[in-house]
Amino acid sequence: MLNPSAALDRLRTLPAGPRVLGLVAATPGAWVVGGAVRDALLDLDARELDLVVEGDPTGLLDALGGTVVAHERFGTATVTLPEPGPAGEPLTVDVARARRETYAVPGALPDVEFTTVAEDLHRRDVSVNAIALRPAGEGEPELLAVDGALDDLGAGVLRVLHDRSFADDPTRLWRVARYAARLGFAADAHTTALAARADPRSVSGPRLGSELRLALREPDALAALRAAAALNDGLLPAGLDLDPARLPAALELLSGAGEVRRDLVLLAACARTTDAAALVDWLGHLGFGSRELDIVAAGSRSSTYMPLQRAQTPAEIARAARGVPLEVVALAGGEQARRWIDELRHVGLAITGEDLLGAGVPEGPEVGRRLQAALDQRLDGAIPPGRDAELQAALA
Ligand code: CTP
Repeated sequence: MLNPSAALDRLRTLPAGPRVLGLVAATPGAWVVGGAVRDALLDLDARELDLVVEGDPTGLLDALGGTVVAHERFGTATVTLPEPGPAGEPLTVDVARARRETYAVPGALPDVEFTTVAEDLHRRDVSVNAIALRPAGEGEPELLAVDGALDDLGAGVLRVLHDRSFADDPTRLWRVARYAARLGFAADAHTTALAARADPRSVSGPRLGSELRLALREPDALAALRAAAALNDGLLPAGLDLDPARLPAALELLSGAGEVRRDLVLLAACARTTDAAALVDWLGHLGFGSRELDIVAAGSRSSTYMPLQRAQTPAEIARAARGVPLEVVALAGGEQARRWIDELRHVGLAITGEDLLGAGVPEGPEVGRRLQAALDQRLDGAIPPGRDAELQAALA
């Protein structure tokens, strides 16, 4: 059963939660809304707080303190609170004046008029996000929700609040896909039909790109992509493999590799059954940068893997893998990729070109060739580590 008091306790566990919720309780017409209320009612870890206020939010903004970035046109503000988060990170709270929105053109940003919280809930994407909670001093918190929202939350249903929802803002297709994947919820039949008819092309590439990036950051990103593909066939390019066999092994290989782009590994793995050039064009339109595109393109082409898969000795593996992004090496898979990622990429020489010049090698390409020869022998275990053996190998 959904329990508002337990949900409020969940919200209080957020960093700065007790202070912010105290200020909400003390501000007439102020409510917590959206994802944090949804998650807290589901007894999930609460996320960032979104607040909505009937009327002028200035008093609440002043009381929250910190720094405020206001967007006058939308009556919204993002507050960076004075207190840092547990790991020293900045804590933000979004504060919006209760508003109604109209869309002059589908996919454009909305025109805004200020109104009540009850009406504000009706402009939202899905019913489970159209729930507001207001702490009330010591008593039971108040809940305000659009019709059916609490039943939908209990039953795991994603339902848009009106028939123009996706036409007004097709980024909501991606939002529904992410909620489906993250919460295990499913769109109802009417929402599914509206989603299939919507046209994401009315939204700019970079806005769709931000939505895709959010989907790729979901704990189960593949499930989010599958949900998106099922909702609307304009969200992803045709022909992607959304259950790529290579992916789990590649991610496993990268598990201890530090800063790598798991999102790009996933895209490249999905792209192995599709036209890589078309995928790269599409990602470029969505605002992905050239390094990102290179990783996806290289990772999606089996020709990239051939030299690595043919390599037999450690020195051959190193020659095939050096300079190739780790994400791409991981997708090649197999023992060669594992050896490169776990061991061989860390093997280096104690000597430098300066040592060879000092020993009389003439400046020029020969220095590089001799260093490479010494490194190959180090990698293959033909010489022990240390300057003397390396110098001897380089000068042989
Ligand atoms: N919202 C909306 N339509 C959008 C974006 C946002 O209706 N295109 C509303 C939803 O009510 C949402 C709220 O604005 O709950 C806050 O948006 P956001 O912080 O992006 O979403 P959360 O619900 O907090 O979702 P998440 O759990 O993904 O952060």
